[in-house]
Amino acid sequence: MMTTACCKNEAPKEKGALEVIKARTSIRSFTGEKLTEEQINTLLDAAMAAPTAVDIRPWRFIVITDDEIKAGLYQGEVHKKMVTTAGAVIVVCGETTRMVKPHDAEEGVEMVERPNKYWFEDCSAATENLLLAATALDLGAVWLSCYPTERIVERIRAYLDIPANVTPLAIVPVGVPAEQPEPKDKWNPDNIHYDRW
Ligand SMILES: Cc1cc2nc3c(=O)[nH]c(=O)nc-3n(C[C@H](O)[C@H](O)[C@H](O)COP(=O)(O)O)c2cc1C
Repeated sequence: MMTTACCKNEAPKEKGALEVIKARTSIRSFTGEKLTEEQINTLLDAAMAAPTAVDIRPWRFIVITDDEIKAGLYQGEVHKKMVTTAGAVIVVCGETTRMVKPHDAEEGVEMVERPNKYWFEDCSAATENLLLAATALDLGAVWLSCYPTERIVERIRAYLDIPANVTPLAIVPVGVPAEQPEPKDKWNPDNIHYDRW
């Protein structure tokens, strides 16, 4: 349970998990206020609490607080300008391969590189956790796409010195919201089938 201070004489209001899930909405305008180290660590801790196939935990994060580096992330692409006013930008990356000892290895056999088959799913779950944690902290955030658009992936890789076996999945600006859009109600019974399609 996260708590948020509201009014001076009232006890802090607790936000339950379902309330946070329903309150999350994409925030694309920020005040420019910096985040504290504690806030950033809370966001990263939530991201790393995500489920992960075979408990591989392929997520890697680049936390950008430097204004110049943030500004360089924006290169005229639609929707990406908000990275410049976010308190921090967290680039969620996935390690797409790892070095393992082969099962049938003889003595002295080298490690082999194996794909992290579920890196995309694991890192998507981590990204959603990050967005939810931002909401729980009364911060705003938005998932900006990177992977699978090769052009953006390669630009971000080059700009942030990301190694070849790591792929940037999402760019997540987080900050104090400068807008208060209503969360969308996406409940749609047409999307649901019971027992069979
Ligand atoms: C994989 C993915 C990529 C997205 N990429 C962008 C993006 O590049 N720019 C942007 O403004 N929003 C982006 N979004 C946010 C969506 O536009 C947003 O989630 C959607 O409109 C629903 O609104 P809501 O998040 O407020 O519920 C992305 C969301 C996802 C899940």
